[in-house]
Amino acid sequence: MNTVISASLLSADVLNLGRELEKISSAGCGHVHFDVMDGVFVNNISFGIPMLKGIRKGTSLPVDVHLMITSPEKYIPAFIEAGADMISFHTEAASDPAAVLEMIRAGGAKAGLAVKPATPLERVLPYAEKADFILQMTVEPGFGGQAFIPATLDRVRTIKQHMTETGLSALIQVDGGINGETAPAAVKAGADILVAGSYLFHAPDMAAAVKKLQGEC
Ligand code: DX5
Ligand code: ZN
Repeated sequence: MNTVISASLLSADVLNLGRELEKISSAGCGHVHFDVMDGVFVNNISFGIPMLKGIRKGTSLPVDVHLMITSPEKYIPAFIEAGADMISFHTEAASDPAAVLEMIRAGGAKAGLAVKPATPLERVLPYAEKADFILQMTVEPGFGGQAFIPATLDRVRTIKQHMTETGLSALIQVDGGINGETAPAAVKAGADILVAGSYLFHAPDMAAAVKKLQGEC
């Protein structure tokens, strides 16, 4: 399978989102990544439900909602209603991750379990069978443009090994500090989906940047 590139709108030009969505699609990205921050789970505030409704109308690509919020179960129905195709939430923010994963699937979206760089993987692996994807953060969540944390690669390898040993099919997504230099190591470690924000939107040629992330040039 070709590595899927997911463009994080956190680095997009919000004054021209329609054009940015067209650019993401024509550059060869496979998903649109929509980061939701509540100012509590992380020290930043980003986008919410009304904006997702607008984005939904502006693209035919799957929209991947990354919830960096407390009590994700309270808001998941509204994000599904607003058009999310994939939703991830943080294991650190959920008291019953299995129930939240089931809730997302029952709503018809792909369910992802996200984990910060240093949270024990025991908070993730037991739920892998209920997840469509695992999101291993490769920076501390909250801001775009941070440097990739190399120690997270071992965690990607461990998740991948778990999938292979158990025969589970959840995909592995990585998010944070992904660029032309860090992508090959992430893919080698087992990543199937690469989220990139600043690297894609600051690139002079987004299509070439996508190919670079996919290891094609
Ligand atoms: C950070 C967000 C990321 C962010 C990635 O908490 O989850 O999706 O936009 O940005 P870059 O690719 O610039 O590290
Ligand atoms: Zn994200």
